Amino acid sequence: MKIRKVVFPVGGLGTRFHPITRAIPKEMLGIIDKPLIHYAFEEAIAGGIEQFIFVTRQGKNSIEDYFDNILADYENKEGKTKYCFCYVRQNEPKGLGHAVLCAKDIINNEPFAVMCADDFIYHKKSCIGEMIKQYNGTNMVAVMTVPHKDVSKYGILDIKNEDGNIVNAKSVDEKPSVESAKSNLAIVGRYVLSADIFKILENLEPGVKGEIQLTDALLKMIPSVGLAGFKFEGIRFDCGSKSGLLAAILHVAAEDKELSPIIEHFYKTKL
Ligand code: G1P
Repeated sequence: MKIRKVVFPVGGLGTRFHPITRAIPKEMLGIIDKPLIHYAFEEAIAGGIEQFIFVTRQGKNSIEDYFDNILADYENKEGKTKYCFCYVRQNEPKGLGHAVLCAKDIINNEPFAVMCADDFIYHKKSCIGEMIKQYNGTNMVAVMTVPHKDVSKYGILDIKNEDGNIVNAKSVDEKPSVESAKSNLAIVGRYVLSADIFKILENLEPGVKGEIQLTDALLKMIPSVGLAGFKFEGIRFDCGSKSGLLAAILHVAAEDKELSPIIEHFYKTKL
């Protein structure tokens, strides 16, 4: 089945970027001339997505304004676009699982993608597009290996077996302790999910941090649909952190003909 819809959870508070995120959504923080959410949008388009569901909240209106403004760039000669934007509100920050649940009525019983814009993936191929190509009804998450000391920041897979770039999981644990983690294979913010997940999310008890965790719903669905980790190509930057955002900006600038001399000059003169 074609995957046409993506959920962008953009209702987070972005406290790690205070004070700037008191006025600007973290998804609108820029990598040079484009906000993070625009990069996610382009990755989704390259993956064949046509409908964009933003799970948003108070103070995030600039995201709507931004997409109103850039949409003209995606129109054909007749001024028509195949892209469609919907906005639903998540009035309480109750976690990623809760954000996805807010999109239930718009998804309407078809498999769909979820993308977290602060996980910026610098890629030649669209990560979500590659996942969509391989999606076969098993819930799928993008995965990467992380230093063992960092496992408690992520959802971590317990590996059953591996087949090429796919890792089948026998279990998954949200933010395990370093001692209890079953591997260092971590989920990054790209998902292709069966709409059956909504039934699970509706009845899920709060997990880590008192939030409704998407990972907990994925765990509950392993016996019915399974869970596949997709080892993507490309580099992921955690743009939910200052160091990750800075690294992403430097990386994009270093790849840009006009900007790379500035980076080079900076290294030579300041470091
Ligand atoms: C979320 C997910 C987690 C995943 C991470 C990737 O956590 O719950 O499973 O590994 O994104 O960035 P958060 O970073 O929102 O705490």
